[in-house]
Amino acid sequence: MIVSRTYEEFAQHRDGLKGSIGFVPTMGALHEGHLSLIRRAREENENVIVSIFVNPTQFLAGEDLDKYPRREEADRRICELAGVDLLYMPGVDQIYGADELCIGAPKLRGYILEGARRPGHFDGMLQVVMKLLNLSRADRAYFGKKDAQQLILIEQMVRDYFMTVNVVGCEIVRDPDGLALSSRNVYLSEEQRRRALSLSRALKRAGKLVQSGEMASAKILAAMEAILLPEVDELEYVAVVDRAFRPLERIETGNSIVLVAAKVGTTRLIDNLWV
Ligand code: PAF
Repeated sequence: MIVSRTYEEFAQHRDGLKGSIGFVPTMGALHEGHLSLIRRAREENENVIVSIFVNPTQFLAGEDLDKYPRREEADRRICELAGVDLLYMPGVDQIYGADELCIGAPKLRGYILEGARRPGHFDGMLQVVMKLLNLSRADRAYFGKKDAQQLILIEQMVRDYFMTVNVVGCEIVRDPDGLALSSRNVYLSEEQRRRALSLSRALKRAGKLVQSGEMASAKILAAMEAILLPEVDELEYVAVVDRAFRPLERIETGNSIVLVAAKVGTTRLIDNLWV
């Protein structure tokens, strides 16, 4: 595995790769969720590129940029064992310059739910993903469905800017107790982790209701709130949207996402169910 830290090194090694390229952009602190993306990229492409870059522009003032888990050596070993060909670990100065041209999140879809709670987050996320996709010139790029709004906005960016990369959305990976994997789970104490399970429990309940024929979003969301409110410290939102992130009054099977965002302690967690 080749590790590059500068743009020049990366570009040179990228040019040396022959055949199809699968790309997995990450912010490091790699877990089974990232590994599932890397494995899929490995299966579907001749070469796999991973980037590890904690992108400052997608963190809001007061968020966890400084304490975001950084585990460079462990991440490097994980990538090596997973058969990654090229690992890009740039510093901030290798990605950003002064007085940059910025792309922004769309004004409707980019500013509801996560976008409303974290205004500016998606601008920074799209900015870095655009850069990384252009740098990697990948055939396929892999993103988890846990960050559903992120995935849908990246798909839109690729469409709107006539980019040729194929965006692949991958299933959410959960611990055996149901907690969706996230680099931020390390912040949870044992007691908080137990309460955090209410997110996946609420989504499971939503899934059961849909299976039993309940399609009214209001009823599904009320049942979720009944599970979440006694457990979480702040329920930020529960919502039902379609796969273009438009709010839905009724579930449309095959075209709906049920979403939840909540704080347990000071840790912000998101989870969702695609139905
Ligand atoms: O999902 C993430 O880890 C980040 O938002 C991403 C896509 C790597 C961009 O920084």
